Amino acid sequence: METNRDFSGIPVETLVKQSGLRHIAFIMDGNGRWAKKRMLPREAGHKAGADNFKTIVRYCKKIGMECCTVYAFSTENIKRPRREVEALFRLLISFIEEAAEEDDIEFRFIGEPGELGETIGQRTKQLEDSTRGRPYRLNIAFNYGGRAEIVHAVNRLMAEGKTSVTEDDISANLYTAGRPEPDLIVRTGAEMRISNFLLWQAAYAELIFSDILWPDYSTSDVDAAVREFASRSRRFGGLDKADQTGGT
Ligand code: IPE
Ligand code: IPE
Ligand code: MG
Repeated sequence: METNRDFSGIPVETLVKQSGLRHIAFIMDGNGRWAKKRMLPREAGHKAGADNFKTIVRYCKKIGMECCTVYAFSTENIKRPRREVEALFRLLISFIEEAAEEDDIEFRFIGEPGELGETIGQRTKQLEDSTRGRPYRLNIAFNYGGRAEIVHAVNRLMAEGKTSVTEDDISANLYTAGRPEPDLIVRTGAEMRISNFLLWQAAYAELIFSDILWPDYSTSDVDAAVREFASRSRRFGGLDKADQTGGT
């Protein structure tokens, strides 16, 4: 892998364009530990995380990305104490209320937020319906699991009467259908795992694991991630141009 190419003098917007970074995805982890370090309840960490999420999403749009995905609540997070889960649901509802301020984001909720209650189901759908057709695409993974998403896609195909399927069939029936696959996935919070996120779509995504806790992850950390991405060589199983020797 080629790393550490020096891109320090190049503006980050140029690097986004030149490197083909269309879609960045974040596993926003570390809110609980951020709160614990400050002797605050975990819910305070989620509030700080939700505020930071708005800053980072807007910044990614500003530097020229087309699409952003954030992992906000996994299908497994429901196992957490009720108080914490309810705080996360309240943060989602207030986020949706404030989302009216955004005028160029097309929101999509990936996962099954509607299974979490009628209010969440209605509000998420309303936001999707009222923002359709806008240029910057934001996927919010809420009650999302990568395995559940693939099962959901296969069940839809079976309901159509398919007895055998292609990769394109599966892709077209995922929650992310019609949107680009992530080029880069950043996980904050020091864990080096994928935790059931975008299992299908991540096939050739570049991965960055950061020790920074999500509420502390800043726009300059996004810049550093873009520079790291631009320094990588994505081969998709092939060879770098310089190594193509003319087939002999
Ligand atoms: C990520 O932060 C947000 C959610 C999973 C909802 P955590 O709450 O997992 O934070 P840590 O990992 O406990 O620090
Ligand atoms: C992943 O974080 C899910 C989200 C960030 C929403 P978790 O904190 O739930 O993941 P694990 O339990 O450490 O794998
Ligand atoms: Mg965590």
